[in-house]
Amino acid sequence: MVDKEKNHSKKQDLPKNNFNKIVNQREKDKETEKSSKPKLHSFVVAGTTFTVESKFKFQRQIGQGAYGVVCSCKDLSKDPSDENYKVAIKKVPNAFEDLIDAKRILRELKLLKFFNHENIVTLLDIPKPPGRTGYEDIYFITDLMGTDLHRVIYSKQELTDEYIQFFMYQIVRGVLYMHSANVVHRDLKPSNILSNADCHIKICDLGLGRGGIPENTDDIDKKNAELNQDDGAPLTT
Ligand SMILES: Nc1ncnc2c1ncn2[C@@H]1O[C@H](COP(=O)(O)OP(=O)(O)OP(=O)(O)O)[C@@H](O)[C@H]1O
Ligand SMILES: [Mg+2]
Repeated sequence: MVDKEKNHSKKQDLPKNNFNKIVNQREKDKETEKSSKPKLHSFVVAGTTFTVESKFKFQRQIGQGAYGVVCSCKDLSKDPSDENYKVAIKKVPNAFEDLIDAKRILRELKLLKFFNHENIVTLLDIPKPPGRTGYEDIYFITDLMGTDLHRVIYSKQELTDEYIQFFMYQIVRGVLYMHSANVVHRDLKPSNILSNADCHIKICDLGLGRGGIPENTDDIDKKNAELNQDDGAPLTT
């Protein structure tokens, strides 16, 4: 009888103990989350406020497209000799306002995360949003290139056949890599092809990219019809 009573009181204590444990654990988690949250700072680029980790020191605006503003920054946590000391940060404001745009951004992130090739821009980081909900902007941190081919073409730089061949070789290399993964870029244009002073080429802006492309070219028309009903430009054979 006595034993039964003891057991009964133990059973009653158990949920209370568990509850206290959970509350304590939550408090601890909150504290560690607070202390592990990176320090942020803000700066304005082309009228858009960038809020990023304080380690990123703003350098200059390098681009502005339909979807975002791009600037170059120094990552002060890295050694200046590190190849990723200078980075490009693209901010996509109000990323979830429009469903089709949000899908486009998600696709770009997924494809960039998936690719690893010398002639495709490298996604270095996607900074965590400040909270699980309530955030609107997305940042992409990629390796920094000097310029894009649109600017090169309209500059005074003379483009000899050797330059053009070297550019074409690298573009085809990057495209072949994408196609070998059954992905098409669908927005290849000079402003989406980045270049450095050493003429290294990297393809960027995969927002219109699509995966699961049929290997049989006869099926491309069918896929085209599907995509045209969605948001994109047609595929070409
Ligand atoms: N990593 C980088 N290094 C140097 N310049 C870059 C980089 N990423 C982007 N840019 C510059 O920023 C411009 C816009 O970038 P991006 O094409 O990714 O943006 P977008 O908003 O998707 O553009 P679009 O108008 O083509 O849709 C590029 O044309 C290029 O000049
Ligand atoms: Mg672009």
